[in-house]
Amino acid sequence: MCGIVGYIGYREAYPIVIKGLKRLEYRGYDSAGILLYDGKNLKVSKTKGKVIDLEEKSSNEITTNGTIGMGHTRWATHGIPNDANSHPHLSNSGELSIIHNGIIENYGPLKEELINRGYTFSSDTDSEVLINIIEDVQKKYKLKLGKAVQVALNQVVGAYAICVFDSKKPNEIIVARLGSPLAIGVGEGEFFIASDASPFLEYTSNAIYLEDEEMAIVRLHKPLKIRKIKDDSLVAPYVQELKMNLEQIEKGGFDHFMLKEIYEQANVIKDTYRGRLHADKGMIQMAGIEDNLDKFLYAERIIIIACGTSWHAGLVAEYIIEEYARIPVEVEYASEFRYRNPIITNKDVIIAISQSGETADTLAAIKLAKENGAFVFGVCNVVGSSISRETHAGAYTHAGPEIGVASTKAFTTQITVLTMIALRLAQAKGTMSATDFQKNLQELQLIPEKVQETLALTEVIAKEIAAIYKDVPNCLYLGRGYNFPVALEGALKLKEISYIHAEGYPAAEMKHGPIALIDEKMPVVVIAPKQAHYDKVVSNIQEIKSRSGKIIAIVTKGDTQVKELADHYIEIPETLDAFSPLLTTIPLQLLSYHIAVMRDCNVDQPRNLAKSVTVE
Ligand code: F6R
Repeated sequence: MCGIVGYIGYREAYPIVIKGLKRLEYRGYDSAGILLYDGKNLKVSKTKGKVIDLEEKSSNEITTNGTIGMGHTRWATHGIPNDANSHPHLSNSGELSIIHNGIIENYGPLKEELINRGYTFSSDTDSEVLINIIEDVQKKYKLKLGKAVQVALNQVVGAYAICVFDSKKPNEIIVARLGSPLAIGVGEGEFFIASDASPFLEYTSNAIYLEDEEMAIVRLHKPLKIRKIKDDSLVAPYVQELKMNLEQIEKGGFDHFMLKEIYEQANVIKDTYRGRLHADKGMIQMAGIEDNLDKFLYAERIIIIACGTSWHAGLVAEYIIEEYARIPVEVEYASEFRYRNPIITNKDVIIAISQSGETADTLAAIKLAKENGAFVFGVCNVVGSSISRETHAGAYTHAGPEIGVASTKAFTTQITVLTMIALRLAQAKGTMSATDFQKNLQELQLIPEKVQETLALTEVIAKEIAAIYKDVPNCLYLGRGYNFPVALEGALKLKEISYIHAEGYPAAEMKHGPIALIDEKMPVVVIAPKQAHYDKVVSNIQEIKSRSGKIIAIVTKGDTQVKELADHYIEIPETLDAFSPLLTTIPLQLLSYHIAVMRDCNVDQPRNLAKSVTVE
């Protein structure tokens, strides 16, 4: 969590940093700050609130120009969101400054020691402790800044991506990472530093992604030097060419990124299977799977690890991999898996799913699985992310940048990748007939069209239903089979962006407790496409009706039975059972979106959340 931006070069740093912070706001947005060095003095401006508040405040406080700047947008961990706890933080001398994304776990005893030696603190943050440890080390051992940062980092426990600046030596910024992402944009006579590459896309397409436990001395007019934090050894910088473009991260005429991303789903699903799904040749080819096919075919089980929406995609994958490829699958919350001493062997294949590729719990679970000899396969969206590098092999989802904090297109593209994996494994294991395999490929190829049709069918009705139910305090979501995970995802979408309490359940579980909640005020969203368990879902709907609950049903075009029972319905095109989550999810995304907009909620940046959860 938290976004960091730094610039050192010949341009005016202020607009670069502010614009960069706006692009990184998805990482945290409860407070923000900026530092500018104008050649003589450090100017700092910080505020509780968003980058737009910072922009307003800093335009009065920072009136000079400067070609060195650092900025931070925060998701609070230590200390409430207020001006004092916002970054950058200065050392006691006022010479050193830091921006930090991460958590210093042992900051308590370190702070106490510093206080005993006369240091004072103006914030409650762990980051202010870190900059003072660096200063302490620098003074005590008379070290250059880079060396002092390295010695200090060897004393701390936790996670960090940091930029450190010394106003007495203003030709360099020291950066370092452990557990939090950090990219360096390399231009001609200038460097950009950021949590991801989006702040510097318009200036350079050359980027270096620091690995864990690496630091870099970013010095003007000098080649970049990367060192290992532990032993000071030099690492050769690896410069990558960025494939992302600016258009991909702008709103493109939509009111919110979330809406844009919902509407992108038809195209990005196509991007996900492009070059992999060859329906005409009856083939699925995914390099990461082909290269490791034996690992999957001889696996005794597949364990899927993920968090949040990605975990829901994992649940869909459990159903489809077990049904199609007949390999036992378990789906685990990464946060539980990593701490519960799980049994993992070298006969297990782990699939780690993550949009950002930076989720701390998923990363830790991957490390644990690797230590125990398992083969780990990543399904990530962000190219070059920590998880994509930490896994043995993987498949990217190719959804493009997802900026809205609530995950939408990441979910459907994750399901697309996992569906292709299930199909390829089914083919290789012979658990699916050639005819069925071909039928599945043909249908998968039609999904983008059907997504587009679903969007059109949903557009008006989702808004009308949203207007009726926008003020309810609670909402239930029910689904069976492949649509049980969709019920969970629908409920998560509603609660996270509209702050309405929502729960998802397998439809049949209702009788075991949740039915007690049903009365005439309770809307129940039932995912009821015409497929397996349809009759059973109809019975569940009847049970709700007889207790006066309000039914919002997602039905297959041409349905009559559910439509008659439901208070409202949204139609989706017909598809195979296993692919229905790719369609049924869409009305639920739009329903949540419109409710949130009508409730005046900040759709793209819901309260208390952040896009990339790099703390556990
Ligand atoms: C919900 C949402 C989160 C993420 C979760 C995992 O809309 O976005 O629940 O799915 O934080 O994030 P990734 O997929 O980046 O590991």
